[in-house]
Amino acid sequence: MTTPYEAAYQQSIQDPDSFWGAAAEDCHWYKKWDQVLDDSGKPFYRWFSGGELNTCYNAVDYHIDNGRGEQDAIIYDSPVTDTIKKYTYIQLRDEVAGFAGALAAQGVIKGDRVLIYMPMIPEAVIAMLACARLGAVHSVVFGGFAANELAVRINDAKPKVIVSASCGIEVARVIAYKPLLDKAIEMADFKPERCIIKQRPMEAAAMADGRDLDWDAVMAAAQPHDCVPVAATDPLYILYTSGTTGVPKGVVRDNGGHLVALKWSMGNIYNIDAGDVYWAASDVGWVVGHSYIVYAPLFKGCTTILFEGKPVGTPDAGAFWRVISEHKVKVMFTAPTAFRAIKREDPRAELMKNYDLSNFKALFLAGERTDPDTLKWAENSLKVPVIDHWWQTETGWAIAANCLGIHHYPVKEGSPTKAAPGWSLQVVDENTNPVKPGDIGALVVKLPLPPGSLPTLWNNDQGFLDAYMEEFPGYYKTADAGFIDEDGYVFVMSRTDDIINVAGHRLSTGVADHPDVAECAVLGVDDQLKGQVPIGFLVLNAGVEREPADIIKEVIQMVRDRIGPVASFRTATVVKRLPKTRSGKILRGTIQKIADNKPYKAPATIEDPLVLDEMQEALNKIGYAKAKT
Ligand code: COA
Ligand code: AMP
Repeated sequence: MTTPYEAAYQQSIQDPDSFWGAAAEDCHWYKKWDQVLDDSGKPFYRWFSGGELNTCYNAVDYHIDNGRGEQDAIIYDSPVTDTIKKYTYIQLRDEVAGFAGALAAQGVIKGDRVLIYMPMIPEAVIAMLACARLGAVHSVVFGGFAANELAVRINDAKPKVIVSASCGIEVARVIAYKPLLDKAIEMADFKPERCIIKQRPMEAAAMADGRDLDWDAVMAAAQPHDCVPVAATDPLYILYTSGTTGVPKGVVRDNGGHLVALKWSMGNIYNIDAGDVYWAASDVGWVVGHSYIVYAPLFKGCTTILFEGKPVGTPDAGAFWRVISEHKVKVMFTAPTAFRAIKREDPRAELMKNYDLSNFKALFLAGERTDPDTLKWAENSLKVPVIDHWWQTETGWAIAANCLGIHHYPVKEGSPTKAAPGWSLQVVDENTNPVKPGDIGALVVKLPLPPGSLPTLWNNDQGFLDAYMEEFPGYYKTADAGFIDEDGYVFVMSRTDDIINVAGHRLSTGVADHPDVAECAVLGVDDQLKGQVPIGFLVLNAGVEREPADIIKEVIQMVRDRIGPVASFRTATVVKRLPKTRSGKILRGTIQKIADNKPYKAPATIEDPLVLDEMQEALNKIGYAKAKT
């Protein structure tokens, strides 16, 4: 018998127009679309072309017009500042309309870019929604990135205005943001006209005369601004993500497809309704934060939680349970690494017993594969479905999931269950031929991608074609490898590029150009807490006689200064040479296997097999690769 999931899935693939057209009826449009799927510019597909809407109206004002004005839209829960502050939809609308007015007063209009570099405070969400209200394009940069990464994004997005705050708080440490912003602007070739800075009480930022404005002052003077209709195909935001070249890729999200897909996902994937409390414990700087802290729960008329804290240490490993119970959270979404951190501190989940979790119905995990230990621990302690689901910055929402709102399938360990409706997911070999069920290959999505996924890269159509469309013609390349079993369950095994995944954060392994280093490889090796951590292998220039330990320290500091603390780059070692193929390609996979104590064979193409023993020795010295195979 066909399950409701199978029926929905088949319809979404065979008749995307009727499937997504019906989903779009649930949204507010100033003007209905001419075409649901516009394939006139293949492979640049467009959704809802001809339609006009406003994303902020759908996220905020719509609910006031439909009787939810007094309901909480956002609960800001900040254990690091000992604050809980709630915004009803009316209060949120007033703040957002006010800040939209403040941006407009600085000349921001539809299509202009606004860069947002902020900690997890309500002003970050207000700034995002205010951009959407004006039809301006926001680009949020995660606070854990250093000035250099910020400068690269400023140069690419060319923002008219940057919105930032004086500081963030990492557990008990105050991290000054403004000096990083000042440095980034100094480094960047492109200069924004204005910066608007939220001064937080724990750190006062120095303001640049003529450029910087105070958030509170501009808000006090602002005239509320109404929603500006935009085309469904106009960009809503740019979110930069790590690319293989070390230069970040500006993933573009449109307005129409994004609204339709995310609103649909709340009911169908997460089984969440208007009025429910939904919590994504991530950061607004990541795609999870964009989609599931801000947009999707607000599109659906939920209450969303903005949590400025950590799974452990704010103040203890019971923080998640406290938030769930205090705010009656129905569904939570986070990364497995957060649960590993909790499990490490409170292995028997003793702290959970202090809280009433009776409203809690499901835990969703993503960002990295959910390992079976974490899955079982979460299932046994929470006694609710624990759902691994797989997605990427590019896709904006889940490619594969157990769609709780449609049909709840039994969980298979290590699998994000089945391709979500809209995603024609397939496994192919290097010639784009389908492989047998159970065989590993490249995970690709037959075009068109569903609404909500990236239409292109910012100002870089060619980069979009090169990165995603070229290798497997007619398909989107996910750059993940894996398999689909006989029952249609998807298993995501590894990236097919050099990108590593540290604590659910995706990072490229760009090479440090230290003057004493001739060559360097950075790889992600298994880590009990973060899934993977980077390890660097440095080959020094001939004739360098300095202490290797000093060089290592400098390289580590260099990566921290360039990328930021989020890279978690703490370990490196000096080697005489790197294992390579005869054509000069570094054998990253083999080094990784040695580090992870996995069986490995010297590839037939290796230049000199003896180098693998040298690697083993080098890894031993830094505490890896204990077991020789
Ligand atoms: N602003 C400034 N610095 C930040 C930051 C931010 N927003 N977020 C992290 N950092 C810093 C941290 O302070 C830390 O700095 P340090 O090297 O000086 O100690 C570094 O970046 C690494 O941070 P993090 O990856 O958070 O590691 P951690 O050891 O501090 O904490 C976990 C480990 C598991 C608790 C943490 O990674 C976590 O909560 N993960 C949740 C997963 C998540 O949100 N994933 C997003 C996708 S869903
Ligand atoms: P990001 O773009 O930062 O969201 O990272 C996306 C990458 O994280 C994917 O390409 C995968 O490699 C990995 N990833 C995310 N979620 C999962 C998951 N549930 N299972 C396996 N890998 C995942």
